[in-house]
Amino acid sequence: MIEIRELSKIYGNIRAVDNISFRVEKGEVLGFLGPNGAGKSTTMKIVTCYIPPTSGTVEVGGKDIFTDPVGVREQIGYLPESAPSYPEMTVTEFLSFIAEVRGYTGAERTRRIDQITELTSLRDVQIQIIDTLSKGYRQRVCFAQALIHDPPVLILDEPTDGLDPNQKHEMREVIRRMSKEKTIILSTHILEEMEAVCGRAIIISRGRIVADGTPRQLAAMSKYHNAVTLKLRSAAKPALMKDLEKLKGVAEVAPLAGKKDAPTAFQIFAQKGKVILQEVTSFLEKKKISVEEVYLEHGRVDEVFREVTGG
Ligand SMILES: Nc1ncnc2c1ncn2[C@@H]1O[C@H](COP(=O)(O)OP(=O)(O)O)[C@@H](O)[C@H]1O
Ligand SMILES: [Mg+2]
Repeated sequence: MIEIRELSKIYGNIRAVDNISFRVEKGEVLGFLGPNGAGKSTTMKIVTCYIPPTSGTVEVGGKDIFTDPVGVREQIGYLPESAPSYPEMTVTEFLSFIAEVRGYTGAERTRRIDQITELTSLRDVQIQIIDTLSKGYRQRVCFAQALIHDPPVLILDEPTDGLDPNQKHEMREVIRRMSKEKTIILSTHILEEMEAVCGRAIIISRGRIVADGTPRQLAAMSKYHNAVTLKLRSAAKPALMKDLEKLKGVAEVAPLAGKKDAPTAFQIFAQKGKVILQEVTSFLEKKKISVEEVYLEHGRVDEVFREVTGG
């Protein structure tokens, strides 16, 4: 549905986007992750035909941003960063204006505005001036604007930025509901958000792709992948850490709580690709060590994020 090929954008001596290529298939929700200044917004502005790239190209639904920019825009709903709109208009005036720009008139225009007002829960504020709305409502107005033509593709630039926890939750629910029939790229630096709504994520850093995979695959890149956390009923004998370290597949044992040479809790890291849970638990049983808690980690995306973005 979206194909990005060797895309670059250079501002003076800044390579905001540095030769990135990827595809997004129909029905996919792709999280676009990266620290501030990584090039997320710039990439989205190019895909939506807001700015041209320095080199490379983008196709959306088979239409090229250079040869058929209108064809591209028709297929996209775009929620830009910090949700711009016309603050002096009322919500309905603004949506009406956008509907007109999108080519709807008469009863069809009214029907669409009505439907979107309902979908984005804007009914209570529809006659209010946008400038007087809270940030959460302004964000929703701009989201409504992006949906008015029922586009197959949504490009959402930090859609939950500045929202309170309830509003964030609500926005994620709406995105999740839409993901069934739409192709979505959303940028965020909130990792739980990516894990909550995205089937796949790309991490970019300094304009380059540094990781690409499902949330689970990204977590598996972490040194915490398959690590075992162990809490004992009483302090360990000093030799225990050394014994654990010798077990097959164990990379490292780190104390988590208690005295350094006699801890009450450990983190046991696995060697890359190794599963150590069974090994650890049977060792403890054999030694009759009484355990209070055992916990197996899938990995930590935040640690992977820091690792690949040089944070
Ligand atoms: N219009 C512009 N002129 C000059 N530099 C820009 C412009 N827009 C963005 N940049 C720079 O490009 C880089 C990427 O920015 P941006 O795409 O906004 O990152 P992100 O959205 O990931 O935070 C940053 O270093 C930013 O300062
Ligand atoms: Mg941005």
